[in-house]
Amino acid sequence: MRPANNTLQGTSEQLVLPESPHEFAMRNGEFERICRLIYQRAGITLAPSKRTMVYSRLARRLRALGDASFAEYLKRLDDLDSQEWEQFVNALTTNLTSFYREPHHFEILRDHLKARRTQGRLRIWCNAASSGEEPYTLAFTAIEAFGSLHPPIEIIATDIDTQVLQRARLGVYPLESVKSLPAERVARFFRRGVGENAGMVKVRPEAASLVSFSQLNLLDPSWSVGNNFTAIFCRNVMIYFDRATQLTLLERMAPRLDPDGLLFAGHSENLSHARAFLHPLGQTVYRLAAAAPKTPLRTS
Ligand SMILES: C[S@@+](CC[C@H](N)C(=O)[O-])C[C@H]1O[C@@H](n2cnc3c(N)ncnc32)[C@H](O)[C@@H]1O
Repeated sequence: MRPANNTLQGTSEQLVLPESPHEFAMRNGEFERICRLIYQRAGITLAPSKRTMVYSRLARRLRALGDASFAEYLKRLDDLDSQEWEQFVNALTTNLTSFYREPHHFEILRDHLKARRTQGRLRIWCNAASSGEEPYTLAFTAIEAFGSLHPPIEIIATDIDTQVLQRARLGVYPLESVKSLPAERVARFFRRGVGENAGMVKVRPEAASLVSFSQLNLLDPSWSVGNNFTAIFCRNVMIYFDRATQLTLLERMAPRLDPDGLLFAGHSENLSHARAFLHPLGQTVYRLAAAAPKTPLRTS
């Protein structure tokens, strides 16, 4: 056990006192450096109020690596090619998600897909896919819209976090995560685990085969996901970015939509600063301004 070192007298540096016992000291300057690094790498803005969260998430990395202090840990990140960067980013992302989160969006998408049933192959990009619940829900929605287990849909699911993507690819979730879904949907889209997998469900292969997962940092200068998306789901990730970053990303995303494609944002994400090129349809759904209809979308 490392000695508790939670006081530092006679210096202007203040020590954070996040947990008891305080295993590692995290000085103001170290916290500020962590904030700068995650902003530069992933665009994520961390408020001072996130200090305890940052401490507890990175303290796990220090423990795993046997580092005695944040200073020692941060030294690893001096090397821009350090393998630790991946773990650093994974540790500081917030991955909260669920099946059918903000369910009205999937009703809108279902109608959007139904109206395009005769248009051949359709593409959807889900660019903050986290552990997979959202892109799999897109697959379920496509299956229902087309009334077929093999709809002509390709779902590109990306995220910066390699750890959640690993879970997403497995498609295995606790039974608890589907408890609010109608039993009929659970039976249609999941297999129940038995034996040592009891208490778990796995996405059925027909739905899983519609989704491909890959790592993509939205801050990367190029995105190898292609164009012509009938829908882009970019939900509950913009909240982590400042407005300038949001605008830059939206300017790059919008041209990847089909002329009548839809962009879905999270419930608390207001994209009014992109109004020159994204027209709000209501319920945080947007379409290209040039092709914007006068009336809000309805769900049937
Ligand atoms: C709160 S989750 C949202 C998940 C899902 N979209 C939803 O609404 O349920 C935010 C996700 O954004 C991802 N993320 C954060 N910064 C990113 C970046 N720069 N590029 C790509 N994904 C990022 C995180 O890894 C995390 O999985």
